[in-house]
Amino acid sequence: MHKLQRQLQTDHFHLQRLLNYLSHEINCYDFDSERAADLTVILSALDYVNVYPDKWHHPAEDIIFGRLIRKKVKESDLIQALKDEHQAIAQETHKIHELFKSVAGDCIVPANELLATTRHFISLQRQHIEKESEYIYPLMDTALSDEDWHAIEKEITLQSDPLFDAASKKEYDHLYRYILDLEKSKNN
Ligand SMILES: [Fe+2]
Ligand SMILES: [Fe+2]
Repeated sequence: MHKLQRQLQTDHFHLQRLLNYLSHEINCYDFDSERAADLTVILSALDYVNVYPDKWHHPAEDIIFGRLIRKKVKESDLIQALKDEHQAIAQETHKIHELFKSVAGDCIVPANELLATTRHFISLQRQHIEKESEYIYPLMDTALSDEDWHAIEKEITLQSDPLFDAASKKEYDHLYRYILDLEKSKNN
């Protein structure tokens, strides 16, 4: 497997962990929640989605997906739909980021709106990853040659993940510890 494909697959695994955390944290806005949400960590999670998955993972996939479409693979329509979803996801990220920044700025945002918008975002992201993993990533093994990967490499610069990469996660250290704590508590 090419190292770019491996990193993209690892990104999916990591993004799912982040979505699990966000899903857990957003439950604090439910009317019967006994915990208060940690706004700083939610904002950090949304900032991360904006700077890494939206800015590196999706654009890198766009380049690979474009090549698969040019090869006229039978999944081309789905691949195009997934490319379009990258735009929709980035817009949703921006929308909920703004919403939570308003909350942090003491603007009144109804809890229902926060819950509905964030849960929609989480579901969109999860379904997107599932479709890619099931239908498109296996094509990278069968439809792309070494020459294809060589050309793709010239267009994509590998970037380290600022949250999950051990060498660079300092900026999101607080968020990272929250994710680990939640996973530990679920395993106990
Ligand atoms: Fe994607
Ligand atoms: Fe993806």
